[in-house]
Amino acid sequence: MIESPERAALIQRVRDLARERQAVLLAHNYQRGEVQDAADFVGDSLELSQMAAKVEAGVIVFCGVHFMAETAAILAPRKVVLLPDLQAGCPMADMITADEIIAWKRQYPGRPAVCYVNTSAAVKAECDICCTSANAVKVVESLPEREILFAPDRNLAAWAARQTAKKIIPWDGYCHVHNNILARDIREKRKMYPEAEVWAHPECRPEVIDLADKVISTGGMVRWARETDAAEIVIATEAGMTYRLAKENPGKRFYPAHDPAFCPNMRKITLPKVVAALERMAPRVLVPEEIADRARGAIERMIKL
Ligand code: 13P
Ligand code: SF4
Repeated sequence: MIESPERAALIQRVRDLARERQAVLLAHNYQRGEVQDAADFVGDSLELSQMAAKVEAGVIVFCGVHFMAETAAILAPRKVVLLPDLQAGCPMADMITADEIIAWKRQYPGRPAVCYVNTSAAVKAECDICCTSANAVKVVESLPEREILFAPDRNLAAWAARQTAKKIIPWDGYCHVHNNILARDIREKRKMYPEAEVWAHPECRPEVIDLADKVISTGGMVRWARETDAAEIVIATEAGMTYRLAKENPGKRFYPAHDPAFCPNMRKITLPKVVAALERMAPRVLVPEEIADRARGAIERMIKL
């Protein structure tokens, strides 16, 4: 990381404005390095939703994608939630709509619907319980029914299905960033770095999962990076992840499994946009109360687990 005077000045400007506005900056592990460095808290989607619910600040600047900011707005309804670029969406979350989940549940009566946190608030309002990549199996196991609908990520559904005796009926969605990581990328990286461990995010294809030493959420990667004895690790997930891992573990080397595996939506959040959001107190993410109340039930059921 090169610390330029411009970068340092922008981070300082963000910190000054955050203090003035009594705002807290939450950033996802995939965010640009400089955004992570300016944030109060960096985490995976589960950690960020828990943090949104408990911070005392009246303003949350959410450095991530739209569904994550919506989750924060649902869990902290009295707080102002700013998303520095409203165009930072998640194509996978857009692969299922509220109407589609309603129709799907009608097609499979008696099956509860688990929805990945990567969904819109309107979809969450129609599902029974949420999950993240860190707790999908635990959520599925917590349900008494034997057959379960799981949306929208077919890869996370397949990963959860391997670890439970329940029948999981998947929606056919996927994350284009993780789906672009192929088995041949992993084989290539194993040849390049024969001593390295390979860690994959559960949004990866099953054939990539098969070749990985560990399958973990981004938060799991942060924790394991501190514990592992491996000096080199190939990371099959969004490439921004390597920034935090390398920063926190200077003696270890982290290589993205696929170049360039950046999520273009995560990268839409930049420091100048964070500055502008704090100056203007916009753009704000608002979830209609009726949808927020129903979606909150699904998220809180997950958090209670
Ligand atoms: P995590 O739940 O591991 O933070 O992942 C969120 C996400 O968007 C992965 O693409
Ligand atoms: Fe969505 Fe994939 Fe980007 Fe995560 S990495 S926000 S799942 S498009």
